[in-house]
Amino acid sequence: QTVYVLNGPNLNLLGTREPEIYGSATLDDIADMLDDRARDLGLAIDMRQSNHEGHLIDWLHEAQAEGAKAVLLNAAGFTHTSVALLDACLAIRTPVVEVHLSDPSKREDFRHHSFIAKGAVHTVQGLGPQSYVAALEYVAGL
Ligand code: DQA
Repeated sequence: QTVYVLNGPNLNLLGTREPEIYGSATLDDIADMLDDRARDLGLAIDMRQSNHEGHLIDWLHEAQAEGAKAVLLNAAGFTHTSVALLDACLAIRTPVVEVHLSDPSKREDFRHHSFIAKGAVHTVQGLGPQSYVAALEYVAGL
């Protein structure tokens, strides 16, 4: 069964983007880690990234249409701004797990509120790339 892993704006720059916050792993490195773990868990990963809100919304709809087991969603900056992404999470029956590399609750005030959390079955944050792995393990248990 396939798990969609959807990544929002600026995550294409992981590796060089604010490494003191986000670390040195690239999104491809994270995809490789997830692929390995997914294989152990009998799952498959469909890893995507977009800087465009509408693409992320379309992919959430697609996850349901394609019968994905779940979605791991790192909505990045849209986490704190996007009612439309929350609505997309609520519109599908496919479970969504919110993922963040950093711990937004320990950063600027404007990162403390997550729209995505209201549409997610679970949140994993603050573990760096391991946040994605822990989220996948959670999904495997659903
Ligand atoms: C992030 C946290 C967000 O606050 C930020 O806007 C990001 C990345 C994370 O993975 O830690 O772009 O989602």
